[in-house]
Amino acid sequence: MKARELRQLYLDFFAGKGHTVISGSSLIPQNDPTVLFTTAGMHPLVPFLLGEPHPCGKRLCNVQKCIRTGDIDEVGDASHLTFFEMLGNWSLGDYFKEEAIAWSFEFLTSKDFLGFSPDRLSVTVFEGNDTVPMDAESAAIWTKLGIPAGRIHPLPMKDNWWGPAGQTGPCGPDTEMFIDTGKSACGSGCRPGCRCGKYFEIWNDVFMHYNKDRDGSYAPLKQRNVDTGMGVERTVAMLQGRANVYETELFAPLIAAIEDASGRRMGADAETTRAFRVIADHVRSAAFILGDPQGVVPGNLGQGYVLRRLIRRAVRYCKKLGMKEGSLAPLAGVVADCYSDVYPELVANRAKMSSELAQEESRFEQTLSKGMSEMEKVTGALKAHGQTKISGRVAFRLYDTYGFPLEFTEEIAREQGLDVDRDGFEKAFDAHREVSKQSADRAFKGGLVDNSEMTTRLHTATHLLQKSLRAVLGDHVKQRGSNITAERLRFDFAHPDKMTPEQIAEVERLVNKAIEDDLPVTMESMTVEQARDTGAIALFDAKYGEKVKVYSIGGFSSEVCGGPHVVRTGVLGKFRIQKEESSSAGVRRIRAVLEGGAPVAGGQG
Ligand code: SER
Repeated sequence: MKARELRQLYLDFFAGKGHTVISGSSLIPQNDPTVLFTTAGMHPLVPFLLGEPHPCGKRLCNVQKCIRTGDIDEVGDASHLTFFEMLGNWSLGDYFKEEAIAWSFEFLTSKDFLGFSPDRLSVTVFEGNDTVPMDAESAAIWTKLGIPAGRIHPLPMKDNWWGPAGQTGPCGPDTEMFIDTGKSACGSGCRPGCRCGKYFEIWNDVFMHYNKDRDGSYAPLKQRNVDTGMGVERTVAMLQGRANVYETELFAPLIAAIEDASGRRMGADAETTRAFRVIADHVRSAAFILGDPQGVVPGNLGQGYVLRRLIRRAVRYCKKLGMKEGSLAPLAGVVADCYSDVYPELVANRAKMSSELAQEESRFEQTLSKGMSEMEKVTGALKAHGQTKISGRVAFRLYDTYGFPLEFTEEIAREQGLDVDRDGFEKAFDAHREVSKQSADRAFKGGLVDNSEMTTRLHTATHLLQKSLRAVLGDHVKQRGSNITAERLRFDFAHPDKMTPEQIAEVERLVNKAIEDDLPVTMESMTVEQARDTGAIALFDAKYGEKVKVYSIGGFSSEVCGGPHVVRTGVLGKFRIQKEESSSAGVRRIRAVLEGGAPVAGGQG
């Protein structure tokens, strides 16, 4: 079975169980400062997991593009990827463990669907701790379905709990499903979760019925949710009897292109194989990030930094394989071709993808050899003095002057038996940031899930801002990104020129006028076509017929959006633009704040 059939079969299966198929979201989260990228299908659904009604009902399923770079060092093994597709089904306060597990089992083992032998299936369940009891219910359901006790593994929170990426938010115990690849066990402790490659994790059912609070406690959510995620690449590998994800049709054209460009063969030896896998993985992720409609470009902060790190790491491995400069851009084109039927945005953004990759590769090339010789001097001097740690100051110089991402310096250091003073690097970075007054949005910064009053206000203010920008600059203004914290909003939009002080003042005036008018904020659910017909600003491409929410602010603005918003604009306070600057070619960035303002008597979801 190919990936294309798997996606369709999954959606059909869950549609048959009363689920509405909804569109996947952008890789770049909107209005959510807690993660840099969409890391799971549940991410765009957080407001609905917390109890807000979803316009498409209580049973949903979809295919979601995901980026996770937490396991970047594992990339090169059989199963870890920084980009992957997740098949998901959700119950928003509807069905719970019994149905979710029974349907997972049916989809995995029925001959009408994936047809895995139940004998190959092992599962894990949450073993419980001081605060939350063991998930004995899930274990009992698996037993009833015929999984023997020896293949139901109770594991601790670090393995069997899906928690929020930030510090607070919806969470709960999960049960994970593994396929036995048939490899022999690596030892007596070999079990699902072991890294030897015997067990391939392909699906995770999360029973999300807790909310983690700021004080670290777990309170029951007002509804019991199910959030499941099945990895397309891993499942396809298992269905095709492959030992790793790189041997499927999702990677074959890319591997062939790397073989052509390098004159090397994947599988020649372990080191070459790892280099192939790292390049293939990182190029695929870079292509999807650059090709996203909310596109990001390489930079030194936030998502741009992750992208830069992926590209630079890929370049380094290309060099290991002896590939010449300029090899990356054509590889991204191969990714676009490979996915053109599922993700047309990759084809639409092909030119941008190619030019950004080429530019970033050449920027890196310009400093790489100088940086490497600096690195050699540093490591030589350290070794001569019997030292093993590269100081934070030096790591920061390599970062700042030679464009070496910290993790890159760490990786080279590791290869030489050295390590890097990460805290020292952070200090040097912070000191530098003070000086250059850069944004507070650090790469990899976690942060809080913030449904606070202030973020709700800023969210409503963002709608007023977008509408006012269109009024002042023209209808070509389109949202390219939005990021809201409890302190400020940040809004990226397509516009070719720097705004004049007069234009900025006029936008402020329009927003403040809409606030003074104390306009009511109302919400209506409708299909995406109806939303377009009403002239609502729609950011994403939802599927034909899909239901979306449209928030209207008096007669002033109307926008497709998930919420939340204030009830009337009068509470917002005074809107002030702090900064207008370039974000990337053709994209401007505004940071703005709300000052003063009355307490909000409850927002609306
Ligand atoms: N959120 C869970 C995961 O990513 C299930 O989708 O594993």
